[in-house]
Amino acid sequence: MVREPAPVGRMRADAEYEEAPMVLERLRLDGKTAIVTGGSRGLGREMALALAAAGADVCIAARGAEALENTAAFIRERTGRRVLVVPTNVQHREECDALIARTVAEFGRLDIMVNNAGIGDRRGAGARIWDLDDADWHDAIEVNLYSTFYCSRAAIRQFRAQGGGGVIVNVASGTALRAAPDSLGYAAAKAGVISLTKSVAAQVVGEGIRVNCIIPGFVAQAPAESDQAREFLAQRGRFIPVGRLGEAWELGPLCVFLCSDASSYITAETFVIDGGGLAGGIAPTGYSPLAAQEA
Ligand SMILES: NC(=O)c1ccc[n+]([C@@H]2O[C@H](COP(=O)([O-])OP(=O)(O)OC[C@H]3O[C@@H](n4cnc5c(N)ncnc54)[C@H](OP(=O)(O)O)[C@@H]3O)[C@@H](O)[C@H]2O)c1
Repeated sequence: MVREPAPVGRMRADAEYEEAPMVLERLRLDGKTAIVTGGSRGLGREMALALAAAGADVCIAARGAEALENTAAFIRERTGRRVLVVPTNVQHREECDALIARTVAEFGRLDIMVNNAGIGDRRGAGARIWDLDDADWHDAIEVNLYSTFYCSRAAIRQFRAQGGGGVIVNVASGTALRAAPDSLGYAAAKAGVISLTKSVAAQVVGEGIRVNCIIPGFVAQAPAESDQAREFLAQRGRFIPVGRLGEAWELGPLCVFLCSDASSYITAETFVIDGGGLAGGIAPTGYSPLAAQEA
């Protein structure tokens, strides 16, 4: 592709500041519509809530209809925004296409696609490669990676049909950036999500579409229900530089930033949100240090 010469970067003239939105206004998503897959619970629920709180109408998708309805009611009550529920298995291309079509039919357009739905290596967790079944491998790759491709493709077709613009936020995992011997399929799929983010972003940059990726570390999905669970989570948190696990709501502000005009010059990027875990080099990889960090 041969490009026109780029406009020269410049500072704004003072007079232009009269018209320009201030920084917090740039984070507003009023008039935008968003889809969040895996929006019924965990990180997806919090990102959907944050997008709605910033002004977007949201569609949440997952397989379980009851959890979706409960979350939709919660978001509506908290934000006053419209919330659509579309039960979807993102493993299947036709269901992803239908998700985007149903959202556009309801809201009239689509501006933001958050590809968050994901699963760990369910039956295959911990399996050594010589024991790993095809079905387990396929599950992990399809739910985590194929879904991102299917939903991104359908969303980008819609963005283009609307005349360009639009934002995609993918959700990968820190396991993609280090060895994950107990999660072969999951980690490989999430590495694929990171790669897809960069390549798709480079393809669609000319259409005014931005694609970025959030890489969470260890984030507590739900309140621990027993002392034992609480102690397990606290113990994991001790190996993270900030001294605790992440909380799901902490994903919301980053998601809003990446979906808003405040990040207009950011695309093809990955954002690690892990309390310093990867940088600290102490996240469990099948080997955990015996001594806690402060020792
Ligand atoms: N929590 C963490 O520490 C962490 C760390 C790194 C990365 N991540 C990533 O962050 C994302 C969210 O994780 P989470 O911790 O919030 O997980 P979670 O609490 O298990 O929630 C997963 C969400 O995805 C949905 N989902 C699962 N399989 C699906 C399918 N086939 N089709 C449609 N929806 C599906 C679930 O609903 P249904 O089961 O009803 O379909 C649920 O809404 C995932 O991509 C995960 O890999 C999480």
